[in-house]
Amino acid sequence: MKSEEIRQKFLDFFEKKGHKIVSSSPILSTDPTVLFTTAGMQQFKKYFLGEKSPFGKRTVSCQKCFRTSDIDEVGDGSHLTFLEMLGNFSFGDYFKKETIEWALEFLTKVCKIPSSKLWIGYFKGDKDVPEDKESCEIWQKSGIPKDRIYGFGREDNFWGPTGEEGPCGPTSEIHYDLTGKACPKGKDCRPNCDCGRFIEVWNLVFNEYYQDRNKKLTPLKQKGVDTGMGIERLAMVLQGKSSVFETDLFEPIIKEIEKQSSQPRAENPKAYRIIADHIKGAVFLASEGVIPSNLEQGYALRRILRRAIRFGKLLNLPKNFSIPAAQKITAIYQDIYLKVKAQETDVLTILQKEEEKFEKTLEKGLKEFEKRVFRRKPDKYGRIGVAYDQHILYGSDAFDLYQTYGFPPEFMREICKERDVQFDEEGFRQAIEKHQEISRAGAEKKFGGVGKGASIEAAKLHTATHLLHQALREVLGEHVKQMGSDITPQRLRFDFSHSAKLTEDELKKVEDLVNQKIKKDLVVKMEEMPYKEAIKSGALAFFKEKYPEKVSVYAINSWSREICAGPHVNHTGELGHFEITKEESSGAGTRRIRAVLK
Ligand code: SER
Repeated sequence: MKSEEIRQKFLDFFEKKGHKIVSSSPILSTDPTVLFTTAGMQQFKKYFLGEKSPFGKRTVSCQKCFRTSDIDEVGDGSHLTFLEMLGNFSFGDYFKKETIEWALEFLTKVCKIPSSKLWIGYFKGDKDVPEDKESCEIWQKSGIPKDRIYGFGREDNFWGPTGEEGPCGPTSEIHYDLTGKACPKGKDCRPNCDCGRFIEVWNLVFNEYYQDRNKKLTPLKQKGVDTGMGIERLAMVLQGKSSVFETDLFEPIIKEIEKQSSQPRAENPKAYRIIADHIKGAVFLASEGVIPSNLEQGYALRRILRRAIRFGKLLNLPKNFSIPAAQKITAIYQDIYLKVKAQETDVLTILQKEEEKFEKTLEKGLKEFEKRVFRRKPDKYGRIGVAYDQHILYGSDAFDLYQTYGFPPEFMREICKERDVQFDEEGFRQAIEKHQEISRAGAEKKFGGVGKGASIEAAKLHTATHLLHQALREVLGEHVKQMGSDITPQRLRFDFSHSAKLTEDELKKVEDLVNQKIKKDLVVKMEEMPYKEAIKSGALAFFKEKYPEKVSVYAINSWSREICAGPHVNHTGELGHFEITKEESSGAGTRRIRAVLK
């Protein structure tokens, strides 16, 4: 069964059972406590909590998901950063019986998987939540013998909440038996065994509880169902493949890479898989307007792209190898996710630019890495350059590579691991902190010490910068992120992610919006809190590694919320009149605005 057919059959099956087909929500989540959509239930979270669903009580979807949590596992046969999740949902309607029976009906009748291949994991209970006996019984009544049903704990069979709080509950997981043969563990070879015999295909979540911020569980008034099945894994089973990378959702991409490489895939399957997965993730993120940067979603994109480029080097792939691969990806998904096709030119430009940018520094950076890791020491005859001693990348060296060659920290960790080199985490953290102090001192110097007039001007321009940032996000879109900021006594300068020149009309709208907020004389409030909490509360941040544990969040009304060291004014009315004096490019995908207060 082709993947297109699988997707359609799933939606049709549940539509016939009274579900409304809802299209995938974007990967860029609107929930401020998470960066990405990682599961199908996210767009329905509020309906699980009792809000009335405009789609009715039953929905079905095929959701684009992106997660970096499994990034280190990508390269095995089944883990991915980008995946599509098929799911059916009930908000206070049907519960365990229908969910289990329909899941089995879909897999055995529609997909024609022999029921003997299916094994079940269910929640065995713990001190807070009782065993899910009901599900266990329903599975048996539905024809799965007891010896293929196993109870597991929280880690495997309890799901949620996404973010800090929300609906959650026990799960039942359907595992597919790939080999039919037990590993040397014999009877103990069962679902969740690490021998590779089983692959988890479908997760059925029974939302019965609400978990609050203190991890306290309260029964939900309205019970719900949230199921999720990765289409790539189901395709792997139905197409008789031994990994998701051989299914029709990956094969054309891998073939394209193979065409460009002198090394066949059998010699380095992991590199092929990582490249294919990461470029796919990059195409989807870029198609939603994400631009590589050093912050949040942009940083995730930069990370996967740079990792793909490095593995491309290992396979000796030519320059811009990602372009034909990305075109194959567009071809696979263009009829399902229209944005992928509509944004194709932009996406390819982003890929190409990031590759060019990184290309320039990667080789030099790698040489520099080798030099710094393997420092020579005199051998026993006193000859320099014969013996090596150091198997550690010191923090200060790592910081140089990060600053000068744009090596993301985990990228360095990975190269270190491959070469059996220790990464000096603590030293790296200290180097970042030291750098922060130096830039702060520099800023003070620029303002001529703490002269009163100068510091009032600085405070005004800082507050104006926050207003500008938020205004740009409103006028141009949420993809706008701070890439840099500089304030002198005369003006502010603000760099942000956006790919096109701003039109006269856009500039005017931004300027007007800032002035409107100044006129309203809004209160500027400062609150200190741990960095993590600040991000969860929706505060914007810049360069996440550089923040201390405790940060100041400046809120202007409920309109703008940003982490900043200040100083700021107390009321926006103090700013006077805001005027943009210049708008220009500041590197690939970045624009720069200069503005003054009059
Ligand atoms: N939310 C669950 C998951 O992501 C089921 O959809 O696995």
